[in-house]
Amino acid sequence: MTSEVQIVDRLGPEDLEQAVALELRSQDAPWSAAQVAEELARADGIRLGVRDGDGLLVGMLLAVPLAGTCHLLNLVVDPSRRRQGLARTLCERWLAEAAGACPDGVLLEVRAGNRPALGLYATLGFEPIGRRRGYYRTPPEDALVLARPVAT
Ligand SMILES: CC(C)(COP(=O)(O)OP(=O)(O)OC[C@H]1O[C@@H](n2cnc3c(N)ncnc32)[C@H](O)[C@@H]1OP(=O)(O)O)[C@@H](O)C(=O)NCCC(=O)NCCS
Repeated sequence: MTSEVQIVDRLGPEDLEQAVALELRSQDAPWSAAQVAEELARADGIRLGVRDGDGLLVGMLLAVPLAGTCHLLNLVVDPSRRRQGLARTLCERWLAEAAGACPDGVLLEVRAGNRPALGLYATLGFEPIGRRRGYYRTPPEDALVLARPVAT
């Protein structure tokens, strides 16, 4: 990971504007402001961020523990900061935080054709456990369900 970035342990409602802007410039199907606001306000959520040297939010990971399993809701890195290890760093922090709250492991859905994300998750030891047909709407695509124990 490059040195001039800072990991934020707890994003919150005060980060809404920056988080929405990050979504808009980084995702093909960005979350709405209402979706982002709901997750930033969630008391039990894992809400990690990365800021650059100017304080700009350039990475975000949102996850939530549900019945012993920690579900990844959103992971995004600014296009100008990709392939610098930011997503890997966020995921490693997520896995460390999940270790306490999620004895049954971690789970995520990913577009079946999302090669960067699939490459990332493979390097982190995630394995496919299922496929949800037509899970994504815009554009339509199946989701692969990937899982991993919290400690490997
Ligand atoms: C997927 C995403 C989060 C990866 O972020 P990133 O910070 O660029 O990822 P990292 O630099 O930490 O990459 C870690 C590893 O993932 C894999 N990877 C990342 N991008 C890749 C790409 N474009 N092609 C192939 N493998 C890739 C590589 O194994 C990489 O390690 P390496 O650079 O040493 O080869 C980013 O591309 C993104 O925000 N995409 C849009 C949103 C998205 O798809 N989120 C995932 C939803 S499930």
